[in-house]
Amino acid sequence: MARRTYVQFVVGVMNANQDLGRFPMIVLGIETSCDETAAGIVSDGAQLHSNVISSQAALHARYGGVVPELASRRHLATIVPVVQAALADAEMEWRHIDAVAVTHGPGLAGSLIVGVNAAKGIAASLDRPLVGVNHLEGHVCAAWLVEGRPPPDQEPGYPLLCLIVSGGHTDLALMEDDGRFQLIGETRDDAAGEAFDKSARVLGLGYPGGPEIERAAEGASSCAPLPRPWMHGTLDFSFSGLKTALVRRAEAAGIYPAPEGGADREAVAALARELQEAIVDVLVFKAVTAAERFGCNGIILGGGVAANARLRKRLLQESPVPVVIPPPILCTDNGAMIAAAAHHRLQRGERSGLDLDVDPGLRLGQGSPGEDAEARRPAKRK
Ligand code: KG4
Ligand code: ZN
Repeated sequence: MARRTYVQFVVGVMNANQDLGRFPMIVLGIETSCDETAAGIVSDGAQLHSNVISSQAALHARYGGVVPELASRRHLATIVPVVQAALADAEMEWRHIDAVAVTHGPGLAGSLIVGVNAAKGIAASLDRPLVGVNHLEGHVCAAWLVEGRPPPDQEPGYPLLCLIVSGGHTDLALMEDDGRFQLIGETRDDAAGEAFDKSARVLGLGYPGGPEIERAAEGASSCAPLPRPWMHGTLDFSFSGLKTALVRRAEAAGIYPAPEGGADREAVAALARELQEAIVDVLVFKAVTAAERFGCNGIILGGGVAANARLRKRLLQESPVPVVIPPPILCTDNGAMIAAAAHHRLQRGERSGLDLDVDPGLRLGQGSPGEDAEARRPAKRK
């Protein structure tokens, strides 16, 4: 009942203040950039009302990776029920929605199109603002959905170091202000999640590979370590060589190609453990190095790989500054993070037109208010 009262208050304020600047705002966030059809409702960029995710993992599992054509078709079939479920879970009706946010990049073009067009339809029919959101900003802004955080525009700790680790990205970025990002490191080949997914395939484990490797590695004994791709002298990453090293070791151990009757489970588990250790070592080292070098007051970890318990534990242990990591359900793709990320854009009066297009190659920092179209690399602070 308390929530209803709040909603009525918010709607009243909105009607009086459309486009007048700062006000409480309930945002519907839609996410369809890859293989999750998701919608969430968030107010003030920080208060979570609902978060509904329909995963396509089972659909793509037999192919060992996402099949773009199948993904977009599934998004089409599930987007409407998912948005309706997000409203129902929040105990809200359409009229309570003040703005519609949607991922418009990066991601698979055919998948993005479904979410963007659904969002346009909803925004137009409700006569509410539409905001296109960078998916990677969404992963960062999931941090403000962690209970007890101040809203992003009252964050005392800027600059923050952001490590976004997903199936398509391994990005290190400085968040210098609410919604203002500068990319300082990225992968030169495979993303961390991609390394987990491809390695899981080599080890005969399922899809998505990250959770499968994590499960296999639990309680496994160690074996000879895999090489760490440190990429000294840069904050960039490279994981494709690590995957190749794993293939060689799997071949030598008779795990790959998959032998008849199945591979030795202990050997698979030991290699899974070594792979996870190598990836976590590099991610933690680079994040801590970057946070120290740029005088950051905290680290935000986001993206699907941030669901990994070993990575979470190691970063929390080794960071010299406070670390914020959303709960796993907010690390993997979801709509609530998109609604949260729209907050600063809406507060600044930013709106997307109904001609909003998908941008499959969008990078972090692009399209942020006040940012150059090409993400800049900042000077070192110390
Ligand atoms: O952010 P996300 O849900 O989708 C993209 O934007 O790509 O990230 C998906 C990635 C996949 O590569 C998946 O294997 C990985 O996140 N992932 C994990 C874990 N859960 C998901 N990687 C390691 N450990 C996990 N527990
Ligand atoms: Zn993602």
